[in-house]
Amino acid sequence: MKQPSNKQFSINSFPRIRLRRNRLLKFSRNLVSENNLSVNDLIYPIFITYGSNVKEAVSSMPGIYRFSLDQLHKEIEYISSLNIPAIAFFPKIEDELKTTNGKEALNKNNLVCKAIKISKKINPDMGVITDVALDPYTDHGHDGILYNGQIDNDLTLDILCKQAIVQAEAGCDIIAPSDMMDGRVAAIRDTLDDHGFVNTQIMSYAVKYASSFYGPFREAVGSSLNLTRKSKKSYQMDPANSAEAFREIRLDINEGADMIIIKPGMPYLDIITRAKQEFNFPTIAYQVSGEYSMIKCVIQNGWFDKENIIFETLMCFKRAGADGIITYFAPYVAKKLINKVL
Ligand code: PBG
Repeated sequence: MKQPSNKQFSINSFPRIRLRRNRLLKFSRNLVSENNLSVNDLIYPIFITYGSNVKEAVSSMPGIYRFSLDQLHKEIEYISSLNIPAIAFFPKIEDELKTTNGKEALNKNNLVCKAIKISKKINPDMGVITDVALDPYTDHGHDGILYNGQIDNDLTLDILCKQAIVQAEAGCDIIAPSDMMDGRVAAIRDTLDDHGFVNTQIMSYAVKYASSFYGPFREAVGSSLNLTRKSKKSYQMDPANSAEAFREIRLDINEGADMIIIKPGMPYLDIITRAKQEFNFPTIAYQVSGEYSMIKCVIQNGWFDKENIIFETLMCFKRAGADGIITYFAPYVAKKLINKVL
């Protein structure tokens, strides 16, 4: 369409060059968009719990539920129908089963193992990711073994390797160590290989900050009460640090990780960008529980437009350099993406 031009501005290349031209029409904006969000980028975390007929709301995460195994079928079928490529299970373990050394993690019939089997039976093609860490299983809520008042790194490695084997035997595709112990990727890789699980992938939480953004998650898995006033700063990273993040990533890659996770997501986009630039390695962003709840609460107050804010945050992860995104918004986004294609 013809527009009046304002020739009085002849500075530099204006008015010849107008960046707004490409932005004017929707088809053109789509043609020049530098990043894309697809359903293939999404990983959905699912909380599981004991009992039957349980679908209980996680109060600090509006719209998110804990499912008992008999209710899980429906959820898995729903997630499959949306073509979400992978899910990650997080268990809420009964208090009676929590111990100082988290031994329920090694029970071949524990909640996570059963959930893996249910999921694989319903849809063998959907990737199943399981967390390797002890926090849902310990009575002190820490990710490792508490010994002499400290989280003991090497004692923990031993049990994490066993936990990884239990999960691999149950049929998970990807082991995701989220405990931040030193040397765990190498230890788990060797143990998996020794047991014949040479193709079980490791998606390492290479960079995991000691963050307040995990608060709602700890309520969801029931570890916050156990953890009262005890911080995870002796193993998770200081939010002030970034050089250290690259040492962590380098080690995990050298130890045999197949993919790395950076977590939390949005406040740490600088880490995602630098990680991708420096290592060009499969990089996953985790939009954690606190990020979800923050966005969700503001949507509920009517102060954000739901679709726009969710898509914007996920696109920002892609722009920063993430290949995949673990997000509690995955079903919502997948549904919208399907509708967009039609
Ligand atoms: C535990 C674990 C945590 C999350 C994933 N695995 C919490 C923590 O370290 O305390 C956080 C996920 C979220 O906040 O969504 N190993």
